Parts: sequence; structure tokens; C-alpha cells
Amino acid sequence: MHVSRRPTSGPYAIDLGIDLLNELTPQIIEELAGSAVEELAALDNLEALDTWRVSYLGRRGRLTTVLRGLSALDLEQRREIGSLANQAKQQLEEKFTERTDEIKNAALELSSTRSDFDVTLPGRPPAGGRLHPTTQIVREICAAFVGMGFGVVEGPEVELDRYNFEMLNIPKGHPARDMWNTLWIDYQNEDGEQPMLLRTHTSPMQARVMETRQPPIRVVVPGKCYRYEATDATHEWHFFQVEGLAVDEGITFANLKGTLYEFARRMFGEERQVRFRCDYFPFVEPGVDMSIDCFACDGNGQGCRICRDSGWIEIMGAGMVHPKVLERVGYDPQKYTGFAFGLGAERIAMLKYGIDDIRHFYANDIRFLQQF
Ligand code: DAH
Repeated sequence: MHVSRRPTSGPYAIDLGIDLLNELTPQIIEELAGSAVEELAALDNLEALDTWRVSYLGRRGRLTTVLRGLSALDLEQRREIGSLANQAKQQLEEKFTERTDEIKNAALELSSTRSDFDVTLPGRPPAGGRLHPTTQIVREICAAFVGMGFGVVEGPEVELDRYNFEMLNIPKGHPARDMWNTLWIDYQNEDGEQPMLLRTHTSPMQARVMETRQPPIRVVVPGKCYRYEATDATHEWHFFQVEGLAVDEGITFANLKGTLYEFARRMFGEERQVRFRCDYFPFVEPGVDMSIDCFACDGNGQGCRICRDSGWIEIMGAGMVHPKVLERVGYDPQKYTGFAFGLGAERIAMLKYGIDDIRHFYANDIRFLQQF
């Protein structure tokens, strides 16, 4: 029997040169571990370290071979030698990790003393992401209303005909449906109806909110809307709206005007003037469109690109909630009144930042997005 302290052949011999069954003794294991540790200390690079690891701890390594040979021993021996061999294995593994760290650290120190490597230089800042301009403007719009006591709720983008139209006083076959070019979901119920669609506006949340709450109600509803629409500089087939609804006893048109006037000033500057003109939306009566005086030309109009010479810019639709809408959700229109409004988020951003084409928002061009 003999365990060589030096490899007998090759860089590290695998052959233990012993008859495992008869000659495995505690000394052999101690010697094996001893020589392994000694060799390890002399190694100075990671490749050599790996060769060492394979030769002792690898699948066919020397210590692994010993451990595998244990099964041939009788119980008494197996216990004694087995525990020794396992200790040796653990010791070699620890030493291996230690030595690896030492070598790596030495390499690091070396590189930090190289003259072209300045460890005192600040790190390169990672490129930070940012919120999409639509998200930013939606948040800004909501914040303006939250500051006036409104809460924020959201609703489904796949909506029922019932909420998108019926509850808003737009029955089937009513010509007002043509105001919203609708993307219908390809699904029919048992009655052969096609009841689902991609919501064409955020107004359906008016009914959903009123169905689940009692007045006083003050909410804004930001969300994505979809229309079956040919796109151009001012039309997208998907876009964001922010809806608003306030219902309580004694709410009047004066409340509508005051609230929306304050909103315009918060978004577009203290000096803003507003203008209300009659408009038609089936779910409000009276209905209006609201404009602000042009902030680009201060309402002068002449030669202004933003307001197209008119001095005014339309920013939203609004009105007093139609009594039929209140009735449908079970409110008594004699007792409660309210106002509602809806505005397009991208349109507000376009006005505020002078963006000339709504298609920029979803073209995913980093040069556009980076500006916000
Ligand atoms: N939902 C309307 C649209 O998409 C906008 C609107 C107008 C909402 C008047 C309202 C409103 O709440 O009162 O065209």
C-alpha cells in the first residue's frame, strides 16, 4: 500500500494505487487530505484550481473514489472511515472556496493598481426609465380634480352594451350611437345578441359608480378607450379619457362651471378664461362643450396655429346628468342632480406640450418619449 504525495502520472493521478476493500485506513485519508491541501496552497490561478478540484472532488476524483469505496467495507469500518472521509471532503471544499477567493481578490487588487483604472471615478448612472407622457398627463388631470375633493375609480375596458350605451340613454337603434364608432367583441349570447364591446368612452363608469354607491358622489375615471376609427393627426383608434361625475342634492350648472373653470386654471395657467357652448350628448341635459382661451396667442386668434385663428380651444364635453340616467340607476331625479364631463387625455397633452400628431403617443419612438 502506498499513497503518493506526488502525482504518479499526469498532473494529478486519479489512481489511488490501493486495494480499497482491504487497505482503506484513517491514515490514508489523512494523507490524501494533507497532500491535497498542500498542493492547493501552491496554486496561483483559477484554471489550475479547477484541475485540482476535478482531481480530488470531481466525479472520478480521488476523494470521491474513496467515498464510493466505503460501501464495500464492513459496518464498523464504514462508520469510522466514512465520517473521516466526509470531514476531509468538507475541509477540501472549504479550502477550495477560500483559495478561489484569495486568487480573485489578488486579481482585483492588481487591476486597481493599473494606471488606467481609476477606482475613484463615479459610476456610470444607469439609464432611468420614465412614465409615458399619457400616464403623466392622466395623473396630472386626476390630481387637479383630487385637489377639489374627487376620488379616482377605474373600470373595465371590455364593456357591456348596457353600460356603454343603454344606461347612458342611448338605446339600440338610436342614431346617437353613430357618435361612437364601435369595436364589438365577436361573441353572441343565447339570445343572439352581441352584448360586449371595447368601451368607446369612460362614461359607462357613471352608471357603474352610481349603481354601487349613494350620493354624494364625486369621482374621476381615467381609462383607455377604443374606437373603430381611421387614424390621422387628431384621431387614434385607442386613447385615454378622464370622465368626471358629481351627484348630490342641489348640484347646479354653477357647480359645473366653477369646477371646470378651476380645472382649466390648474392645467393651463391662472389667467385662463373659459367658454361654454351648447352641445349634444344623450346622457346630459343641457350638454355643453367647454373651451379655454388660447394660451398660445392669449385669445387673439390671428395667425395662431394652436387655436386655428379662433382664439378658443375646445377641451371637453360636459353637462348636467340627464334625469333618465339618474332614473336608470334608481336615483330620484327630483332629489338628486349632478354634472358630468369627459375629456381626452392625449388632446390635453397635445395642447399643453404643442404636440402636433396624436399618433406620436403610441408609435413607440424613443426620441418622442424621451422629451417628457
Ligand atoms: N363620453 C363623451 C365622448 O366620448 C364625452 C363626454 C361628454 C362625457 C359629455 C361626459 C359628458 O360625461 O357630460 O364623446
